[in-house]
Amino acid sequence: MMLPPSPSPSLLVLLLSLLLLNPVSAGWGKNKDESFVNPYPLTSDDFLTIILTSSAVCVLSLVWMVVSGGGGGSRTVNVVLVGCGMPKKSMGWYHLTQLLSMPNVNVLAVVEPFFLGVCTDVPPQFSTFMEDLSKNKNIKFVKSMADLDDFPPLTMVLLAARTSDNPFLFEQALDKGAKCIYLEKPGAPTVKELERMKNLAISRTVPCRVFLGYNKNVTRYVKEAMEFSKTVESAHLEFVHNNAYKKEELTECFSRNSEGMLKNMAIHELALLVSFFDVRVDTVFKITVDKSKSEKLTLGGITDFSKVSFQVTTLAGASATVTADRCAGTVSFANVKKGGSEGKTVQAFACPSPEETAKVAAQKKADPEIMEYFLSQSDDYLTLKTNVVRAFGEGTDAGDVATIEVAIEALKLAEFATASLMRQL
Ligand SMILES: NC(=O)c1ccc[n+]([C@@H]2O[C@H](COP(=O)([O-])OP(=O)(O)OC[C@H]3O[C@@H](n4cnc5c(N)ncnc54)[C@H](O)[C@@H]3O)[C@@H](O)[C@H]2O)c1
Repeated sequence: MMLPPSPSPSLLVLLLSLLLLNPVSAGWGKNKDESFVNPYPLTSDDFLTIILTSSAVCVLSLVWMVVSGGGGGSRTVNVVLVGCGMPKKSMGWYHLTQLLSMPNVNVLAVVEPFFLGVCTDVPPQFSTFMEDLSKNKNIKFVKSMADLDDFPPLTMVLLAARTSDNPFLFEQALDKGAKCIYLEKPGAPTVKELERMKNLAISRTVPCRVFLGYNKNVTRYVKEAMEFSKTVESAHLEFVHNNAYKKEELTECFSRNSEGMLKNMAIHELALLVSFFDVRVDTVFKITVDKSKSEKLTLGGITDFSKVSFQVTTLAGASATVTADRCAGTVSFANVKKGGSEGKTVQAFACPSPEETAKVAAQKKADPEIMEYFLSQSDDYLTLKTNVVRAFGEGTDAGDVATIEVAIEALKLAEFATASLMRQL
């Protein structure tokens, strides 16, 4: 749905000023035409009516701007979603359900390379979902971007395919004319591939803007912890990321996430360090592991961490701790310590909070098949897309949303820290 443009308040103020300026009282025309008589003299009641009416229009205009999502009117952005995946299970599917609810988004097409490509046993849940959207929302489903016409102006591609497929699909999206790409994290399997993607995006006549789906960059508990830390003496932040695997599930977990814990799980926290602590491989002074909270295992031929905790300190003296544990439950934390990294935690900000946990439990009861993290991180995913769509539509900044430059630095840091921690453990 396209929102009508809101009238500019400054234009209204200008009109109001012109109306209020009685040409005679203002002295206009003096010494030029003494016989001029204002044919529409205004009484004080007329002035009052004009002032009240104009003020009401200004207020309504401002309210409309806020409701419609921003100054200057939010422009509608076309979206092509690549990598829908399984309803209720895949990230692309969840993004699509949110995109369909966004007022300034027009979903043009869905590209599903696997279910509409090599898969011989397409799940009925996907077929039903596709038929419904094709029929009721006029959305085109194709197996490849090659099956689509060149994209119209102001088209964003949301890329939520498997990480290893992203570099190729990214290039295809650029060739079709995408001018903005929302790329699911970590974006590509290696730093080299992500750097090439960045260079391809900026090499276009009109460069393509690239943002990454690092939801912790905008999440509530991290923001609250960082704000609170400003009030604490010698504050130190520890970002704790937990998963709820059982010990016996770790072999399967290691093989499914064979890029390793830092690139797959703690990459969100590394993106926080890059975004808010100016941590770069080039600026790292030291990485110190906490052996009491770390474990290196080799399972199914893959060596990875089941848990790890390390402090990163930069040459400029900034410092933060990242702690990740595959088997510590579903609640993550941002802990604020007083008196440096060895100090006591004075406040722990949980994700989800107890209220959020209760809400998610109720939603999960109503829809047991849906992945729980869609529900607990739903607000973050929507905030990211809202910020990116607005920034693209209006040509403005996307706030704290990670750019591809941040993603490259986070991936570099993951490779660097993995090597360092493997040596130390
Ligand atoms: N930001 C977050 O919090 C978050 C959370 C989860 C995943 N992700 C990211 O989203 C992206 C997609 O993750 P996902 O878990 O939705 O992946 P997924 O495997 O469920 O789906 C992604 C795509 O993989 C293809 N696919 C599905 N089954 C396949 C099979 N058996 N063989 C080959 N291809 C198959 C399909 O084309 C599908 O669209 C990844 O980059 C991941 O890192 C981000």
